[in-house]
Amino acid sequence: MSRFWKPGTEKPRIVEDEEGGILFYSASPSSSGQGYESLRQRLPAYKYRTDILYLVETHATTIVVGETGSGKTTQIPQYLKEAGWAEGGRMIACTQPRRLAVQSVASRVAEEMGVKLGEEVGYTIRFEDITNPELTRIKFLTDGVLLREMMDDPLLSKYSVIMVDEAHERSLATDILLGLLKKIQRRRPELRLIISSATIEAKSMASFFSASRRIHGREDEEHGPRKVPAILSVEGRGFTVQMFYSEEPVSDYIRAAVSTVISIHDEERMGDVLVFLTGQDDIDAAIQLLTEDSHKRKQELIVLPLYSGLPRADQDLVFSPTPRGKRKVIFSTNIAETSLTLEGVVYVVDCGFSKQCFYNPMTDIENLVVAPISKASARQRAGRAGRVRPGKCYRLYTEEYFINEMSADGIPEMQRSNLVSCVIQLKALGIDNILGFDWPASPSPEALIRALEVLYSLGVLDDDAKLTSPAGFQVAEIPVDPMVSKMILASNDYGCSEEVITIAAVLSVQSIWFSARGVQKQLDEAKLRFAAAEGDHVTFLNVYRGFIESRKSSNWCHKNHINYHAMKKVDEIRQQLRRVAQRLGITLKSCEGDMEVVRKAVTAGFFANACRLEAFSHNGLYKTIRSSQEVYIHPSSVLFRVNPKWVIFHSIVSTDRRYMRNVISIDPSWLTEAAPHFYQNQLFNPRPH
Ligand code: CDP
Ligand code: MG
Repeated sequence: MSRFWKPGTEKPRIVEDEEGGILFYSASPSSSGQGYESLRQRLPAYKYRTDILYLVETHATTIVVGETGSGKTTQIPQYLKEAGWAEGGRMIACTQPRRLAVQSVASRVAEEMGVKLGEEVGYTIRFEDITNPELTRIKFLTDGVLLREMMDDPLLSKYSVIMVDEAHERSLATDILLGLLKKIQRRRPELRLIISSATIEAKSMASFFSASRRIHGREDEEHGPRKVPAILSVEGRGFTVQMFYSEEPVSDYIRAAVSTVISIHDEERMGDVLVFLTGQDDIDAAIQLLTEDSHKRKQELIVLPLYSGLPRADQDLVFSPTPRGKRKVIFSTNIAETSLTLEGVVYVVDCGFSKQCFYNPMTDIENLVVAPISKASARQRAGRAGRVRPGKCYRLYTEEYFINEMSADGIPEMQRSNLVSCVIQLKALGIDNILGFDWPASPSPEALIRALEVLYSLGVLDDDAKLTSPAGFQVAEIPVDPMVSKMILASNDYGCSEEVITIAAVLSVQSIWFSARGVQKQLDEAKLRFAAAEGDHVTFLNVYRGFIESRKSSNWCHKNHINYHAMKKVDEIRQQLRRVAQRLGITLKSCEGDMEVVRKAVTAGFFANACRLEAFSHNGLYKTIRSSQEVYIHPSSVLFRVNPKWVIFHSIVSTDRRYMRNVISIDPSWLTEAAPHFYQNQLFNPRPH
């Protein structure tokens, strides 16, 4: 390994290996809460229990900073409950940016407390509510779900304390939430906020919360909690991590990651390996590569994926203790960077990238791209190796690159996202002056204006930029992207709500196809069995019909290269969307095979994503109507190589080119019909090809 790896220049501190070289695991004591008490007391957060409770008592906002694994997420809500914050019918909320983290910490806390998940401790993520209105006292939820709750309960009056966790991630929903919570605090002085974060972001957060309107230039200290936030730093007990850098820039990080895992296994003593890759596709590819490797000691490896959307049983494997004599290798997205704690990891392999969304308001295109991570992220990733004893981190990039080229911090999602959903949510909450809203990080005015424009064309906002009634409120009410909501509303007029709701459900899951390296040909053949000339959306309807006709059989899915878990999820989401639709007065109706109306409904929501095939294009080049951006149909689409003249896409992914994912063919006349305002000033002359 020494030929490839260059140790970092920073000298590692020599730390005594406390466990005498023997790995220990916080072996999950079986069932009931007993046995957890001493584990809980050993966590760094425990030493600060009294301080945390005192600060929460006396301050409106408390900022808690502490290393990953110190017990912020799992312990603080329990301390609050023990101290009486959940009495008198009140609840403690703890938000997470990621769905998988919500599920995982909620079940851990329920286990520690010895209660059944969904009773005293519960969780809510979009399309999944595991709480009981009478019993639940501690509730974990995504920041997005808490925002939605504000539509029914603007002051979030059922919560006594709201803990906004993982604030350093600066997710779009976290930032909106922080802005709104700051407003709520003025109306509800008894509400307590805890903002917790893994890295030192505390100062900017503190100044955001203290920059409130002070009366007569000074604080009113006599009554109620102090307004200036308290900052508490939980000192962890992480071990030193020795850094290694690649000597040369790495061209194929998947291969490099796999060969690094093999070298670690050959040369290093036992201890689990955590590999950071960018997404499910990378992870599947790496697992395939490692599985194909004919290594003699391979049976000692337990190779596991970790990404959001992973079925429950697979999640449990990741968190269960490693059997003696085995080594776990976990290939993860950046979900393991700070949101989840994995015990037993001693080696970290960091590819240096993650999947990030970037929106360009000029082109109006949102790209999901594999982009370099920041130094802050790289440090977090490395830190995962020092949980149980001194560890090692292998960075698949050069030290020079780390020092000179990596940016110090990431860009808040707010400043690189399409803001359509954000604006509609704020409007629905009665925030009219969006430009003047008190943001933790201001979004670009161009992005806000674009969002207003799109919402206006969707008929969601009126000339005064207020939500239209009823359409605007209905679109805001459906818990999906505004464009999808609009498509569902339009389906009512076209008499195809059953079909369109199925499409919306499929668009809410990652992918319904089961893809893995080496089976591409079989997958393509399977797709052909369902492929519809109209495009992917209609293909989804064929798949869903097949799934229902097979009586939701996993065998059928397997035979057809369809992801069974994704289909079950689609079915559940579909039932929920049908309920919401009915509540909004939409008639559930099938168009009985008339796909033209389905395509028209899709157009009514997604007209802004229309593209035209370039005349004389031999390689499938399209341009978006709005901004003449060059795009291509993604190879995974059933319309790849078919290249109809006019299409609408659902999203864009960029690799070497910009690819449209989930594409449907349309008739251009539907665009002006769906959005006359939007297209009236465009260069919109359907040229004959
Ligand atoms: O939030 P923070 O990163 O500070 O820590 P945490 O998520 O509260 O985790 C505290 C400890 O609980 C970790 O060190 C793990 O030992 C344990 N834990 C676990 O074993 N399994 C989980 N699903 C969650 C936490
Ligand atoms: Mg945490």
